[in-house]
Amino acid sequence: MNTLILDAKQEQSYKVCSDIIRSGGLVAFPTETVYGLGANGFCENAVKKIFEAKGRPSDNPLILHVESIAQAEKLYRDIPQSFYKLAEVFWPAPLTIICKKASCVPDAVSGGLDTVAVRMPSDKHALRLIHESGVPIAAPSANLSGKPSPTRAEHVIQDMQGRIDAILCAGDCKYGVESTVISLVNLPTILRPGIITPHMISAVIGEVQISKSVFSPLHEGELAPSPGMKYKHYSPDAEVMAFSGNADEMRAKICSAYDMNCVNKMKCIILASAETAHLYGDRQLEIMGSAKAPESMCSSLFAAFRKYNEYDYILCETLADEELGLAYMNRLLRACGFLVL
Ligand code: TXA
Ligand code: MG
Repeated sequence: MNTLILDAKQEQSYKVCSDIIRSGGLVAFPTETVYGLGANGFCENAVKKIFEAKGRPSDNPLILHVESIAQAEKLYRDIPQSFYKLAEVFWPAPLTIICKKASCVPDAVSGGLDTVAVRMPSDKHALRLIHESGVPIAAPSANLSGKPSPTRAEHVIQDMQGRIDAILCAGDCKYGVESTVISLVNLPTILRPGIITPHMISAVIGEVQISKSVFSPLHEGELAPSPGMKYKHYSPDAEVMAFSGNADEMRAKICSAYDMNCVNKMKCIILASAETAHLYGDRQLEIMGSAKAPESMCSSLFAAFRKYNEYDYILCETLADEELGLAYMNRLLRACGFLVL
């Protein structure tokens, strides 16, 4: 398939892309979190093509992207008050809200579940594409299944060229980490942490739980609250290793792993924070951001996984797993198979 590569700064790109969406094709597009791989959310056949292009298991449901609360309302039934509170305070935002689904939502979108995930992105290119398409856009992250989410147009081109109809290219995604996912079906529960943090949410709707699948792998036979949790995620070909402890302990563990592997001719990279970078001497490292601003670390994590994909080991510092650090740690834990040294 010939994939059109289009510039989001060009006016005519939106007409081309929205025509493709309406006629049942696939368009990758930028959002403030990561690039999405979009199809007409009302068209079962179009949605099925997303799973083929990504190699995604068909029981892993998709997020519907909307341009307004009014458009979201039509996709749900039995809507709780907490939905309106959250949507009115946060949307447009990196916050995905799960409620019971309306009958107009195809089974291919919800992976056969009785619920549906919806979000209104804040990125202006995404909003314009949704608006011109005139339908909710079903979209997972635009990476091959299992690979790190794409935070730059070039990542999407790497994974999707030849597999989809068009790629709408803008610059780097603002946050670089996927949306917070919250289910309001029973007690409000965060299924995936992100830039909208537990405290921000509980300030609006009161008590909120954090699913234990955020911190730990599922046990054999255990039912996933979110089907996406079952699958290995975000992993580069390099082995990702995470190290815990205070700054000195982390430094000691990382240096010894680095030195031992380098002796064995393995290629290693350390992902450090601005605060700790000086501790590693002349070892090869990438400064991810500031540990005091975990959102800066989040925004460079997936890009670093892709950049050092061909290395043997990616050695990572950990952050406290609360608030924004929780978003970072959730992605890191999945990439290292939940094994923290
Ligand atoms: O920021 C984002 O959320 C990006 C951009 C493109 O919007 N999208 C994204 O989609 O990350 P995806 O498909 O890669 O992740 C969606 C997650 C998956 O783990 C999926 O299992 C879960 O949300 N999910 C979707 N619908 C669900 C539902 N009805 N019940 C439980 N989990 C659901
Ligand atoms: Mg994804």
